Amino acid sequence: MVNPEPIGFVCGTKGDSVSFLVNKNVNLAFGQIVRIDSSDRCFYARVVNSESSSTLETIEQLREAEGKEAFGPYSAYRRVEAMLFLEKRGGRVRSPTFNPNYRDKVYATSEEDCSILKLSGDLKLGRLRSADQLLGTVGIDISAIPRMMGMFGMTGSGKTNTELILNAQIIDNSPRTVALIYDFAGQLLEGKEIEPQRGLKDHPLFHSKVQYYSAKDRKLAVGLRTITPAKLDTLFPDIQPPQKRFAWALYQHFGVTWIEMSREIYANSEKLPVHANKVVVEALIQKLSSLSNELFPATNYSFVNSVLQNICKGITCLIDISGLRSEDQKRIVCLSASVVAEHYKHAWEENYEEWQKLPTLLITLEEAHEFLDPNSSRTIFSDVALTYRKYRVGLNAVTPRPSRITFDVFAELWTKVIMKTELKKDRQYLTENTPYMEYSETEIKMLDVGEALLISEPKIKFAVPIKVTHYPAYLEKRGNADYSLAASSPLASMDTRLKQLSEQSTKPLM
Ligand SMILES: Nc1ncnc2c1ncn2[C@@H]1O[C@H](COP(=O)(O)OP(=O)(O)OP(=O)(O)O)[C@@H](O)[C@H]1O
Ligand SMILES: [Mg+2]
Repeated sequence: MVNPEPIGFVCGTKGDSVSFLVNKNVNLAFGQIVRIDSSDRCFYARVVNSESSSTLETIEQLREAEGKEAFGPYSAYRRVEAMLFLEKRGGRVRSPTFNPNYRDKVYATSEEDCSILKLSGDLKLGRLRSADQLLGTVGIDISAIPRMMGMFGMTGSGKTNTELILNAQIIDNSPRTVALIYDFAGQLLEGKEIEPQRGLKDHPLFHSKVQYYSAKDRKLAVGLRTITPAKLDTLFPDIQPPQKRFAWALYQHFGVTWIEMSREIYANSEKLPVHANKVVVEALIQKLSSLSNELFPATNYSFVNSVLQNICKGITCLIDISGLRSEDQKRIVCLSASVVAEHYKHAWEENYEEWQKLPTLLITLEEAHEFLDPNSSRTIFSDVALTYRKYRVGLNAVTPRPSRITFDVFAELWTKVIMKTELKKDRQYLTENTPYMEYSETEIKMLDVGEALLISEPKIKFAVPIKVTHYPAYLEKRGNADYSLAASSPLASMDTRLKQLSEQSTKPLM
C-alpha cells in the first residue's frame, strides 16, 4: 500500500498549527496522525479539532433548510486542525523546524510512516490506530523501564490487560528483565475479568519464570525476628523519633526477639528492662501489637528474602495481596519493595559487577495513588520514582486517579499509557502535566476499551494513538513454547521451609 490518495490539502498554517480541508468520504478521527508532504520534507501532525460548514451565510442556510429559498451553487466543507510534531528531511527525523505550505497534500499514515516514526520497541504494547485501521506495532524499549512509567484509565478501560501484556513480555525477556507485581484485586494470576479468562498462569513460561505469592495460601509471612528497628519507618509511617530510639534500645537488649519479648513483658504488666517515657512505651508497644500473628509470626523466616532471590535470578514475582486489610497491604508492599530496591542500590554502590548482572526491574503498583498521594506520608515508591533510575529499578504506577499522584513523581514518569478517563479533574491533570498532550483532553474522554495514548520519552515524543493487544490474543499468537519444566525449586523449597516454620511457631515461646 504505497502512498494512497491524499485525504485533503493544507488551507492555512500558523506556527505549529495546520488547517486542512478534507476530501469527501474520508474517515478521520480525533488524535489521528496524518502526514503532509511539503517539497523537500514531510511533516507529521495530530488531528486536534474539526469543523464543518458551508460557504453560505447563516441566514441563507436557514432559509434553504426551511425550504423557503434555494441558494447555489455553494460548497460544503470540513476543515481539520492538526498540530505538527515531527519533520522528516532527507533521512533525518526531528522536531519541526518550519511548517507546511498552502495546498500541500495531506495523507493518512501508512505502514511506511509507522517505521519512519520508529514506534516499535522491545516490549510491544499494541498497534498504531489510524482512523478505523490498525497499522504497525507500537512498543517501548527495555531502556524505558527505569525511566518510570504510569498506566491511567477509569474502571474497565483496560489497565489490567495492559499490565498483563507488558509483564508477559518482561517474562519473555528474562533474565534481561524481571517484574515485581503487586496485585490488589487478585486478578492477574487467572486473569479474572479478562474475557476470555487468561492470566499470567497461562503464560508458557509461568512455571519456570514466575513465582506466585499469596496471602490465601499463607505465603506472605514476614517473621518478626527479621524486623529490625530500621524497618519501622516502612511498617509505621507515622512513627516518631523517640519511639525509634526506644526500639533501638530494646533491640540492643533483646536482639532479634525484641518484638516478641517486649510485647510479652508489657502484656504481663511487667517492667521492661529499658527505661523510656510512658507515652513513648505505650505508642511503640501498641504499634508492635498491631502486627497480626498470621502475617507476622514469631519466626525468622521472611518471604521477602525469597522474593529478593528470585528477582535477582530473573524470576518474576507476582504478589497477590487481595483479601488483606489495607494497613497490612501497605506494610507488605512497602516492606518487600524497599528490600528489593535497596538491594539494587546497594549493589550499585558496593558491588558494581554484581549489579551489572542484575535484571532490569519493573515494579508494577496498582492503586498507586494510595502510595504516592501528596497528602500522605512518603513511601519507598516516591524514592524509587525520583532516584532509582540509575540503579535500573523502574516503577509502573497504575491508577484510575492520576490527579492523586504527587506532582514531583508524576513528572518523572517518562512513559505514560493513557486510557479512557471521564473525570474532568483527572483529564486536566493528565493533559496539563504531560508534554505533547495539551490538546488531547476531549480525546481521552472518547477512547474505547483497550485504546490508549502512549508517550515514551525520549524515544516517542508525541502522543501515539494505539490499540493495546488483547492478552488472550497475545498468548494465542505467541504460541505455546512451554518447555515443560518442573515447578521452580524456590517454590518447592519454600513450601517445606514454611511447613517447618509454621510447626515451630505453634510451639509456645520461652
Ligand atoms: N485491548 C483490548 N482489547 C479487547 N478487549 C479488551 C482490551 N483491554 C481490555 N479489554 C476487555 O475489557 C474488559 C476490562 O478490561 P480490564 O480488566 O483490563 O480493565 P481495567 O481498567 O483493569 O478495569 P478495573 O479498573 O475495573 O480493574 C475485560 O473484559 C477485557 O477483556
Ligand atoms: Mg484492573
